[in-house]
Amino acid sequence: MYDNWEQLEEINKQCKKCRLFKTRNNVVFGSGNKHAKLMFIGEGPGADEDMQGQPFVGKAGKLMNMAFETVGINREEVYIANIVKCRPPSNRNPEDDEIVACLDYLRNQVILVKPKIVVLLGNVALKSILGKEHGITNSRGKWVEKKGIFYMPTWHPAALLRDETKKIDFIKDLKLVIEKLETLNFNSPVNSID
Ligand code: URA
Ligand code: SF4
Repeated sequence: MYDNWEQLEEINKQCKKCRLFKTRNNVVFGSGNKHAKLMFIGEGPGADEDMQGQPFVGKAGKLMNMAFETVGINREEVYIANIVKCRPPSNRNPEDDEIVACLDYLRNQVILVKPKIVVLLGNVALKSILGKEHGITNSRGKWVEKKGIFYMPTWHPAALLRDETKKIDFIKDLKLVIEKLETLNFNSPVNSID
């Protein structure tokens, strides 16, 4: 574990812990407010993210930005990261061993940010963080509290591109998140995930 962002990001940018390093153009570390109360976790970079080195800058990201605007979330005020930091070829799902190899970076990010709420975007984020027994269809829209962090699983923004009704769910879930943020006080316990 690193106790500062500079070291963590530097080590992450040089990472060759799994096969995804071979095909990446850029490591997508994460972006946003490093002291955010609210954090979003996606699956992994797509083509646009891989080219720009930033999370959620492609089509799915634009949809997420629109949803943020609808509910009044300022993208600069939240922290956004992914389960794997390098793009899986042809946007396939990350393999289990790639997730295991990469998850320490995300754990370290969560420890440094200390969010009160973490939104899990889609099945890969959900299963990687809360366990394989979870599934997004049943879990979305329902709070899970673990070690002082409230997790809200919801659809991955890319799923909204294919299904209009999921957009409604997504907005609903984001509204629950905002309500929760408002009800939480500032004395939350030390946060960590494992
Ligand atoms: N999809 C993700 O899961 N993450 C990104 O950063 C972009 C698209
Ligand atoms: Fe390292 Fe993660 Fe990239 Fe794999 S995906 S090479 S573990 S940074």
